[in-house]
Amino acid sequence: MSIWRVKPVSAFEADMKKSELKRVLGKWSLTAIGIGAIIGGGIFVLTGTGAYYHAGPALAVSFIIAGVACVFAALCYSEFASILPVEGSAYAYAYGTIGELFAWIIGWGLILEYAMGSMTVAVSWSGYFNKLLKMFGLHLPEWLTSDPASYTGEGFSMNLPAFCIVILVISILIRGTQGAAKANNLIVMLKVSAVLFVIIAGAFFINTANWHPFIPDATTIVDAAGKSHEAYGVKGIISGAAAIFFAYVGFDAVSTQAGEAINPKKDVPFAIITSLLVCTFLYILVSLVLTGMMNYSDFNPMGKYPEAIKAPVAYAFDIAGQSWAGYIVTIAATVGLISVLMVMIMGQSRIFLGMSKDGLIPPVFSKIHGVTGAPKTNLLILGGVIAVVAAFTPINKLADMTSFGTLFAFTMVCIAVWILRKKQPELIRPFKVPFLPVIAVCGIVINTYLMINLSIDAQMLSLGWLVIGVFIYFLYGKRKAKLNNPE
Ligand code: ALA
Repeated sequence: MSIWRVKPVSAFEADMKKSELKRVLGKWSLTAIGIGAIIGGGIFVLTGTGAYYHAGPALAVSFIIAGVACVFAALCYSEFASILPVEGSAYAYAYGTIGELFAWIIGWGLILEYAMGSMTVAVSWSGYFNKLLKMFGLHLPEWLTSDPASYTGEGFSMNLPAFCIVILVISILIRGTQGAAKANNLIVMLKVSAVLFVIIAGAFFINTANWHPFIPDATTIVDAAGKSHEAYGVKGIISGAAAIFFAYVGFDAVSTQAGEAINPKKDVPFAIITSLLVCTFLYILVSLVLTGMMNYSDFNPMGKYPEAIKAPVAYAFDIAGQSWAGYIVTIAATVGLISVLMVMIMGQSRIFLGMSKDGLIPPVFSKIHGVTGAPKTNLLILGGVIAVVAAFTPINKLADMTSFGTLFAFTMVCIAVWILRKKQPELIRPFKVPFLPVIAVCGIVINTYLMINLSIDAQMLSLGWLVIGVFIYFLYGKRKAKLNNPE
């Protein structure tokens, strides 16, 4: 009953043989799942905050740093996915190497990334949807678009669009992975086109004077709430990387689909790395174009364009006199966020599926529907919780916790890959992290550093969440784990 017990790789292989999931995902669908999860609200929203409160025109460097942190983690995820192509992702990798308690903590932490990420994405989708309605002269009353804590009127209120979008996504997911992947492919094509559009159309409105000085001198900025931000200079660039990190969250979702990949050992590593590289490249260009179109100081919420920081990309086009382009961005973000939500919920359901197969959470989460091959009950429970929290709580105020959960998992995967290389060097590894101790150590250092650069509130709340998880492990998982009785 040791908390350090490890699930042997052979036990994962045996589970894989018994899996009832359908192997329907090819290389490009997996890559589209990665891009589907990565490109979302982050790039359209956080760029203003990143430029004004953190990095100035050097925002592109913040994107490079966050991208590099992700590449280190992506390489480590890829090695694991090539050895253990199972649905549990970082949770399973830790169970196969570090031990049960850590695996549990990581699985519990991944709820911050996937389930909580889904809730915040559903709320931001609602914001974009309302904007879209306004563009067509329609509007929903405040009581139907606000959670009760944010509602300024009296009586009942809920975020109805956030609720409905989760229900819509769940209804797609329970029909099976193949249909969901097709819908995702379509949305990904649309949103990549929109990002390319922003880059190409925006390039015509760049004023290179806005890039000077590229790294403004370090200073302290106090926001409307009285909070100080150490902006610009090298420190600002690094804190900027933490601030925009959310825009990268998601590529690891590819690893949660390994159980449904046709050729997981090769295609999952390919999809993880390709989706990340494509998005990093696009993000660097978007940030350069944006800070070229608008001076970073114009994103000041107390300055001459107080609204610019909320929707920086659309606003930059407005100021350039091209409001129609802003409309395209709004439409792309509204549609694009649906695939982020889809992949995030799918990822969470697969992690629960892996944990449930191991007995660490109740067996209801690993029931597979005979016809669709989807974990239907799991998805319905998950969807119900996500829809209710998104509709009735101000969960979006805690969005930084999603970055914490992700960075925590990344760090652990970098540690775990190194441990497994030392402990079982003989395992066949179709993908191997090059220069292993160096890449793993860089991954651990940079991801931990970004984690401690997140807001203190996010760090404290996330740690509190992990502590609750430890209690639950001792109350439930430790006693029920299948490893107690491997037969
Ligand atoms: N990376 C995703 C987004 O930016 C979560 O919305």
